[in-house]
Amino acid sequence: MQGTRSKAAGKERHMEQVKRPRRLRSNEILRKMARETRMDRSALIYPMFIVEGENIKEEILSMPGQSRYSADRMGEKLEELSDAGVSSVMFFGIPSKKDAFGSMAYAEDGVVQQAFRTAKRDFPNLYLIGDVCMCEYTSHGHCGILSGRDVDNDRTLEYLAKTAVSQAQAGADMAAPSDMMDGRVAAIRKALDRAGFSHTPVMSYSAKFASSFYGPFRKAAESAPSFGDRKTYQMDYHNRREAVKEALLDEEEGADILMVKPALAYGDLIREIKNASHLPVAAYSVSGEYSMVKAAALAGFIEEESVMCEMAASAFRAGADLYITYFAKELAECMKRGQIG
Ligand code: PBG
Repeated sequence: MQGTRSKAAGKERHMEQVKRPRRLRSNEILRKMARETRMDRSALIYPMFIVEGENIKEEILSMPGQSRYSADRMGEKLEELSDAGVSSVMFFGIPSKKDAFGSMAYAEDGVVQQAFRTAKRDFPNLYLIGDVCMCEYTSHGHCGILSGRDVDNDRTLEYLAKTAVSQAQAGADMAAPSDMMDGRVAAIRKALDRAGFSHTPVMSYSAKFASSFYGPFRKAAESAPSFGDRKTYQMDYHNRREAVKEALLDEEEGADILMVKPALAYGDLIREIKNASHLPVAAYSVSGEYSMVKAAALAGFIEEESVMCEMAASAFRAGADLYITYFAKELAECMKRGQIG
């Protein structure tokens, strides 16, 4: 008698509980059907360092698994990427000569210009993006032209515009300004249009923060500022509304894609900008994010591949349409296998 009563009570409890979120998690096929975030290899962009010289492939110590290539050797990497299904790369140039005005950033035979020409010739199916900034090219390592100890915003615009045009002339399909000067999107747009590149899109690093996550990149690109920091032009990471303000200004100035950088600690801003604009949003998972995963995996503390997938999913879930990452090839392979996506 006692047993029957408790059975009935148990059944009743079952009937009361109509809403069971676990139902949709009970089977792998169903989990995939009900998935909210879908990812595709076409959303991936691989950032690559091109160094001046010949026959160079050197490991980047601060970024295990990444190398700097000279233009004549980068084909090895581009081939691997296309085989994995990554169709877009972004080039960063590391010149052998630097000066106060970053002249090698806009030189016809500059390192990145040579790389664009070679890549266009040998890999016509790849989409080529140029990072537009001065810091890898200036002797002082700041992202523009100095006036005293600060970057002269308006004077810098002219140099950025020249750089974007010279990259487009060399074969860049898209310009991605990362300097954070005011008005640079408008200046670059105008210069590209005048030079006959009105169809070349601008992907603006709209909300780019003064971040310690860039540490490994600055070692790789030899672009750390020789004095001071970048806080007078890159954003203060305490700010959210300011990120939206920057993004909307870039949209007004003619940006085609808005970027948030870094990605991992900035998911709120990816979502905020996604909601504030109709433009596609890109998230840049920067060098520090990559190197943290690598270092922890090498120490045996985390499982590299699954952490990499989880980070990527978080950026897309936050609202990213495009994802720039040093893990592009590995992620593309995971997507192909259906491990993520
Ligand atoms: C150039 C630039 C930087 C990065 C992209 N473009 C460095 C910086 O602003 O100091 C960082 C990328 C990364 O850390 O992966 N301004």
